[in-house]
Amino acid sequence: MDYRISRTGEALSGPSGIVDLMDDLGAALSGAAGKGMRMLGGGNPGHIPAIQAVWRRRLREIVADEPLCDRMLANYDGPAGSPKFRAAVAECLQAEYGWPIGPENIAVTCGGQTAFFFLFTLLAGEMAKGPRRRILLPLMPEYIGYADQGLEPDTFKSLRPRIEQLSEHSFKYHIDFDALEIGDDVGAVCVSRPTNPTGNVLSDEEVSRLAQLAEDRGVPLLIDNAYGEPFPGAVFEPIRPMWRPGMVMTFSLSKLGLPGTRTAVVLAEEPLVRRIRSMTGVVGLANNNIGQAIVEPLLAEGQLLELCRNEIRPYYQGKSQSAQQIVAEEFGTDFPYLVHRSEGAFFLWLWFPELPIATQELYERLKARGVLIVPGEYFFYGLQGADDWAHRRQCVRITFSQSEETVRSGIAVMADELRRLHAQRG
Ligand SMILES: Cc1ncc(COP(=O)(O)O)c(C=O)c1O
Repeated sequence: MDYRISRTGEALSGPSGIVDLMDDLGAALSGAAGKGMRMLGGGNPGHIPAIQAVWRRRLREIVADEPLCDRMLANYDGPAGSPKFRAAVAECLQAEYGWPIGPENIAVTCGGQTAFFFLFTLLAGEMAKGPRRRILLPLMPEYIGYADQGLEPDTFKSLRPRIEQLSEHSFKYHIDFDALEIGDDVGAVCVSRPTNPTGNVLSDEEVSRLAQLAEDRGVPLLIDNAYGEPFPGAVFEPIRPMWRPGMVMTFSLSKLGLPGTRTAVVLAEEPLVRRIRSMTGVVGLANNNIGQAIVEPLLAEGQLLELCRNEIRPYYQGKSQSAQQIVAEEFGTDFPYLVHRSEGAFFLWLWFPELPIATQELYERLKARGVLIVPGEYFFYGLQGADDWAHRRQCVRITFSQSEETVRSGIAVMADELRRLHAQRG
């Protein structure tokens, strides 16, 4: 049949970077089909033995507790999430940071991805009252998964970063506050912290400056803590997260090692929480109960944050250091490359300032040699008048969450391919 597709349908089912990325990830990690593929793409969490053991233990405890197990499998939750889990999240954040919040400030969603779809749909586009609004992303490159979530064209308005070269082979992006203007067309400001893809962690000072600018304009600042504090805590710099009414925070169980449970939470003022709850009800009736049941007692008893500090953070910090070491060994000192300072998350962001081809082509060449990376172009969107900005075609993202063997052999193939390319193109 020749299906006629709505405009919204086209926006949500057309070509998409995040769908390609998740297809690659699913194929590479699904056993036989991905055999031999070195997976340096995707954002899958590493399988940390001590953490996997906790999840298996919790599942055994749940199965042994028949009433709990039956409730978990056989009952729908209310659309805002389980009251016990919401209370445990609020208490954990209140105890850790002193934020004035309760369960009424917490809505569970089916992953952070869904949370952002709901938030962007609420805060941008044609407004029920007043002119059309957009989401301001103050620091490009930014998470690829937001890029196709706008139901209307030009949902995002993004800013180029200020680039600081830290040493011959390292650099860091900063928000260009001189260029940052929150006009009447902005419905919310959004950042991931740590930033996917770069591993940048906005400083406390940058966050409080953004929060003040957003508050002055009466729009929310959305902070995506998918890799952040306090859980999973893949942050290698000392930070102190802030929240105050008007800000929206998201936290996810995925990067704790539970992406299969599709569970995240939104922390916001109550009216926004009630809207998120309604959207869950309309779109999906309820959330998945399983992640909430697994994690709730660990949150309530304070063990989750200990696991994050003692297992998860050191694991990823060690992986980051080892991946940086491998990059330095494989590329040597003479090859033109820079690595973004690794301050958190699971990725290294590599910049090849003399790259002779587009990173999409580099991706295809590496895929043919059994290595998956993510081309950097995908992470630069919503930029106006930046077509001639060569930097956006010179970066790639690799993940260091997989085994050291995978990371080492993937980086070795990439370095070899890049050297060949440079040699061919003179
Ligand atoms: C920055 C960022 N935000 C949100 C998400 C969504 O994750 P999930 O829907 O699994 O919570 C991801 C996933 O990789 C991410 O990297």
